[in-house]
Amino acid sequence: MRTPDRRIVLGLHRSRHERRQLIAALDLGITGIDTAFNYHRFTSHTSLANVGRGLLDRFTISTKVGFFPGHDQAEHSLAPASLLEALEQTNRDLGRAPDLVFLHNPERSLREAAPDLARDTLAQACAAMEEAKVRGLCRAWGASAWHPSPLLHAIDPTVPKPAVLMIRCGLFVGFHALKDAASLAERWSDHTTQLWGMSPFGGNANNPVWSRFDARVFLRNWPDHLTQMQAAFRTAFHLPHVNTVAVGTDDPTHLRDLVDVLSCEVDEQAVVQYRNLLHHKAQPQPA
Ligand SMILES: NC(=O)c1ccc[n+]([C@@H]2O[C@H](COP(=O)([O-])OP(=O)(O)OC[C@H]3O[C@@H](n4cnc5c(N)ncnc54)[C@H](OP(=O)(O)O)[C@@H]3O)[C@@H](O)[C@H]2O)c1
Repeated sequence: MRTPDRRIVLGLHRSRHERRQLIAALDLGITGIDTAFNYHRFTSHTSLANVGRGLLDRFTISTKVGFFPGHDQAEHSLAPASLLEALEQTNRDLGRAPDLVFLHNPERSLREAAPDLARDTLAQACAAMEEAKVRGLCRAWGASAWHPSPLLHAIDPTVPKPAVLMIRCGLFVGFHALKDAASLAERWSDHTTQLWGMSPFGGNANNPVWSRFDARVFLRNWPDHLTQMQAAFRTAFHLPHVNTVAVGTDDPTHLRDLVDVLSCEVDEQAVVQYRNLLHHKAQPQPA
């Protein structure tokens, strides 16, 4: 068993929720799992408690609340009562308190709200998360945002700061998304807030783009056998700069590849040049 490495969190968004996946993670020193109230058709917590019997205490568990069962599809809400109820159920289903709970894509309930209402809604949701922490329903809370832009105007300086901010990372994140993520981190973090990245392959490692582009250009001294996905994963820690990345895989060989590439060094200069290229491309071009 390897020494625990907190830089990788095993994300369960697309996972089959199998015990062998949890055992493989522990063997590789991965002790963080990230799930959500709505993952696995709203059964992720009970499935995890079931397949992870006897193992779960060895993991740090993060989860998310914000999506609730609806008629045809999941509905989003930041209503404090709904968030707290979901957290009570999460505790029952997991059989323990999660270590971290994210507000799940809070922007979904804010994007069409007037600025005052958006500020109020976010403030009340954060107050509910603080209450959850005091009641022992979670050890800490954070916020996970896919499109940070609608959140930017809802953050009042008096709103409490999340312990962790989770944002998209990797080579599929464009200039505007990187800029919004930086603005979000500037407005809604303090010196204790950690920045996590998510979805380093944009959710699809089979995208044909990966065979047309060599992500190894972002690494220094990479070994011959290094795969394209390994290089893209290592680079994702720098686009934007994040401490930890939540990545999904059901394949223990893939997971080992991800752990192995952590020891490779990223060429910061190549990343800066790439960011400059994104910046240039985002500027209005002369007709
Ligand atoms: N709004 C949110 O809060 C939000 C949204 C999206 C994601 N997330 C978090 O981020 C986690 C990861 O996101 P994601 O699952 O959408 O996308 P992802 O991690 O970008 O991509 C997952 C895909 O990559 C493949 N893969 C992983 N490692 C590989 C490797 N070494 N070689 C080849 N293929 C590899 C996996 O296939 P195999 O199974 O075949 O390896 C899987 O299909 C989620 O589980 C969740 O925790 C959060």
